[in-house]
Amino acid sequence: MKTIFKVFGGTLLLLLLSISIVSCSAKKEVYTDVANANVITKSGAQLWGETCNRCHIAPSPSAYNDVDWNTIALHMRVRANLTESEITKILEFLKSAN
Ligand code: HEC
Repeated sequence: MKTIFKVFGGTLLLLLLSISIVSCSAKKEVYTDVANANVITKSGAQLWGETCNRCHIAPSPSAYNDVDWNTIALHMRVRANLTESEITKILEFLKSAN
């Protein structure tokens, strides 16, 4: 009798353990990192307005030509610690509006 309880209890414990492992790992798949979420939802113009105003007044897109913007983007990406997708979107906006 005692052995049956032990086997039953062990099986139940294993079942609960595997359910919790499955549900915990499922939650991790939903996780998105904030920087990526910003890039997915925000336009280049929005990112430019928010990011490039942090340290100085955001320069107007018409202030520089496409070649200059390429160089400035490299420089400011490092200054502002931006991801590649953030600076790409900002650069696309600057070039489309100058
Ligand atoms: C973390 C602060 C910071 C942020 C954010 C920032 N800048 Fe700058 N920016 C500077 C500093 C400091 C300078 C002065 C040059 C230097 O010392 O690097 C500068 C200079 C510039 C210049 C002058 C030309 C040059 O390359 O030096 C331009 C144009 C410019 N920034 C554009 C931008 C744009 C566009 C953004 C948004 C993507 C931006 N900045 C975001 C700090 C920042």
